[in-house]
Amino acid sequence: MSQSTQSHQQADNLWSSRMAFILAAAGSAVGLGNIWKFPYITGENGGGAFVLVYLACIFLIGIPVLIAETMIGRRGGQSPVATMRTLTQSEGVSRGWRVIGWNGVIASFLVLSFYALIGVWALVYIGKAASGLFTGADAETIGGQFGGLLANPWELLLWHSVFMMIVVVIVGRGIRSGLEKAVNMLMPLLFLLLVVMVIYAMNSGSFGRAVSFMFSPDFSKLSTAGVLTALGHAAFTLSIGIGVLMAYGSYLPKDVNIARTAMTIAVLDTSVALLAGLAIFPLVFANGLEPGTGPGLIFVTLPLAFGQMSGGALFGTLFFALLLVAAITSAISMLEPVVEWLEEHKGVSRAKSALGGGLAIWFIGIGTVLSFNVWEDLHPLGFITLFEGKTVFDLLDFLVSNLMMPLGGLTIALFAGWAMKRQGLAADIGLQGGAYRAFMLVLRYLTPAGITVVFLYNLI
Ligand code: PHE
Repeated sequence: MSQSTQSHQQADNLWSSRMAFILAAAGSAVGLGNIWKFPYITGENGGGAFVLVYLACIFLIGIPVLIAETMIGRRGGQSPVATMRTLTQSEGVSRGWRVIGWNGVIASFLVLSFYALIGVWALVYIGKAASGLFTGADAETIGGQFGGLLANPWELLLWHSVFMMIVVVIVGRGIRSGLEKAVNMLMPLLFLLLVVMVIYAMNSGSFGRAVSFMFSPDFSKLSTAGVLTALGHAAFTLSIGIGVLMAYGSYLPKDVNIARTAMTIAVLDTSVALLAGLAIFPLVFANGLEPGTGPGLIFVTLPLAFGQMSGGALFGTLFFALLLVAAITSAISMLEPVVEWLEEHKGVSRAKSALGGGLAIWFIGIGTVLSFNVWEDLHPLGFITLFEGKTVFDLLDFLVSNLMMPLGGLTIALFAGWAMKRQGLAADIGLQGGAYRAFMLVLRYLTPAGITVVFLYNLI
């Protein structure tokens, strides 16, 4: 096994600017989580109060780990695995902490295998909306469209391959000519599409009702489960805990202030989630539909709304294009830790690492494609109570979102808060005096406590 120990910092293989990193990390953060998941979980959990708790979780749990993970990544300057090996040595702490690196590479590998499939739904829906399939259609027809797609393994497999190919090509071209070029183009497009959608919703939907649904908190509508959902989602939406930010951080120039940059990323991510809600709920309300329909909100309820509205075919198409762009800029970030690891540990070129990693993920992805049709009744680890009744898709989602991501976030907070030497930490993070002390207090106590509660709840 050939192991290159050179850090990206020495090799000068870095993001070309602070802005490039912000776009890439915001691209990772802004994804299906913001546009597909956030609106539907807000809908399911009654709106305003849920949004408020979610915002608190972003501050107390999301941002501290975002900062810590990026800082660890830049210090190590390599793949999550090698970074943790280097840091456990230089900090003189137990080798046990290396689990953070392995957890990252394995979880980012697994997450892409099912995340890609939802990206595929978006891709297919661009075509469906554009061809006017939803125009004037009733609920049954539109529900049937979604059901029909899920039931068709070949169609899903074809687009799954296309989606993975796009991701592999971008990542294979490297940091500056691949990832940076892609986000430079895609992120402005994403914001533009989002603004267009919000303006459309303002003019043709029940905007006032959506605003009050999202922003007037009624705590009687919020359950304990809702609070924990908000907490879990705060981690997912900021892409923390699975090595992605560690990988992106390894290419971050030394002079960039991490705390300030992390705040910018979190603000961008949160704004997109809120704007997505403001693009979707007005249309849902204007057409007398329910906001709490769950995962089908975007693929069933929303098309129904588009089908009733003037300009619905055009704006429906734009909406699913927005969803696809968001999915791609997140998917590329999930492949990066795997590619870094393959490059370092197997000594293969970047292009080959991307291809090899992508192929392996594509292969596992076949299991997630089949979870909705041929393997609908297959529950691989069903004999374990925790995994009862879970298809391959459910299992991967559960493993990553409920186990590996919280464990990753927790161990990162503990490592940065308790295990690392304090020397130079404040400067590395980019905070001073009271702000630094407050940050450390949150990172050492509140963040781990919050994550532990959600983690235990999800297991029971
Ligand atoms: N943050 C992304 C989203 O909201 C998902 C993601 C999770 C991306 C973990 C990378 C790592 O869709």
